[in-house]
Amino acid sequence: MKKTATLKVDNREYKLPVVIGTEKEKGIDISKLRAESGYITLDPGYTNTGSCESSITYTDGEKGILRYRGIPIDELAQKSDFIEVADLLIWGSLPTKVMRKRFTDLLTNNALLHESLKHHFEGFPFDSHPMAMLSAMVNALSCYHPVLAMPHSSSEIEKAAAILISKIRTITAFSYKMSRGEPFIYPKSEFSYAENLLHMMFSLPHEPYEVHPEVKRAVDLILILHADHEQNCSTSTVRMVASSGANLFASISAGIAALWGHLHGGANQAAIEMLEDIHSGSIDVKQYIKMAKDKKSSFRLMGFGHRVYKNYDPRAKILKKLSKNVFSVLKHKDPLLDIALELEDIALSDPYFIERKLYPNVDFYSGLIYRAIGVPKNMFPVFFAIGRLPGWIAHWKEATENNRLQLARPRQIYVGHAKQNYVPISKRSTKKS
Ligand code: CMC
Repeated sequence: MKKTATLKVDNREYKLPVVIGTEKEKGIDISKLRAESGYITLDPGYTNTGSCESSITYTDGEKGILRYRGIPIDELAQKSDFIEVADLLIWGSLPTKVMRKRFTDLLTNNALLHESLKHHFEGFPFDSHPMAMLSAMVNALSCYHPVLAMPHSSSEIEKAAAILISKIRTITAFSYKMSRGEPFIYPKSEFSYAENLLHMMFSLPHEPYEVHPEVKRAVDLILILHADHEQNCSTSTVRMVASSGANLFASISAGIAALWGHLHGGANQAAIEMLEDIHSGSIDVKQYIKMAKDKKSSFRLMGFGHRVYKNYDPRAKILKKLSKNVFSVLKHKDPLLDIALELEDIALSDPYFIERKLYPNVDFYSGLIYRAIGVPKNMFPVFFAIGRLPGWIAHWKEATENNRLQLARPRQIYVGHAKQNYVPISKRSTKKS
């Protein structure tokens, strides 16, 4: 017999189906509750609401576990690469040699931007935020690939994924070049994904950028660590936009906008700005911790805390180690690393952070690595977006396939005025104006 939960309200009992996941996570299906009882559930910020069943990524926030399609993140970080992880997330299994070669070729063949699309850059002020440009340019891809924007068959999805994953790198590099007034640099087919990203950003026509193998590997690893994180804000946005029937490129453009915010993907930029503030001497580590604990202030320790992880974020653990490695191979010294380590030590021994289970998250150390490589602060969230793209594509595919599309449309509890009559302008009270 199927397990149920019982809800008793207004002296009536309602049997609600219990849903159990692969890893024994427990949910109560309330989808019919309103029709049967007149009640909805209220959960601002969706802190306790499952929006879907998904087979892409598993997290256990209490234990600090992250797995893509069942494979632990540490294992992928050690053995895989970003393009293989993209295949894994989108298709559900690691690619065969044939699949891998086909996808790599598609990426190479789609690296360029249509010449007219390239002209869109001229419409942006030179100091535009690269996330704004990225979101707009990805949406504009719908105009250049109208059929593939709404892919149906596997081969169309593969091509659409290749267009997005390849062109997002070109758009990123071109927006960086535009901000510096430098000529665009084109990708090289013999380079790996991460190597091409660095080459297109940092090479000059008269001076090719020498990519250190450890830096190439670090960028690839960062992209792997960001590739998916189940129903986070931007991924939920992609799924929600997709639920209206919007195309893949438009849905992902909305996801990029959601990622931009400082509580989500913009936290890597905000975390570095916080470390810079401390370094500038305007405020010290202890004062920052005090401000973060002050309930009268809206200030938070950036790069700390997570909706899901109530333990050390497994990605932050890898990034902390990676940052030391990158610093050592580049012989790079950054006082901000010492400040970050001090901040972490103080926070992790402070009862406020211990009681609330607040640990460094993925955004705490990633910015230090970007800085060491020479990536400007406003491009940190862009690197996050490049990494998250395979996850967004996988979720768009999962949400839309098999005609399971169901419009996402939350309800509300209305707390505004009760019914009132329209007052003509001549009779309105002047007290408010
Ligand atoms: N600094 C100080 N206090 C914090 C912090 C922080 N970074 N994060 C949470 N808290 C406190 C919060 O004030 C609350 O305290 P109280 O119980 O006394 O009211 C308690 O911890 C629980 O916080 P919450 O707001 O209910 O937790 P949440 O799950 O809604 O927030 C978060 C998650 C990531 C938005 C939050 O931790 C935060 O704002 N962190 C800083 C921004 C950040 O680093 N974001 C990146 C998240 S990871 C990558 C990504 O998803 O993009």
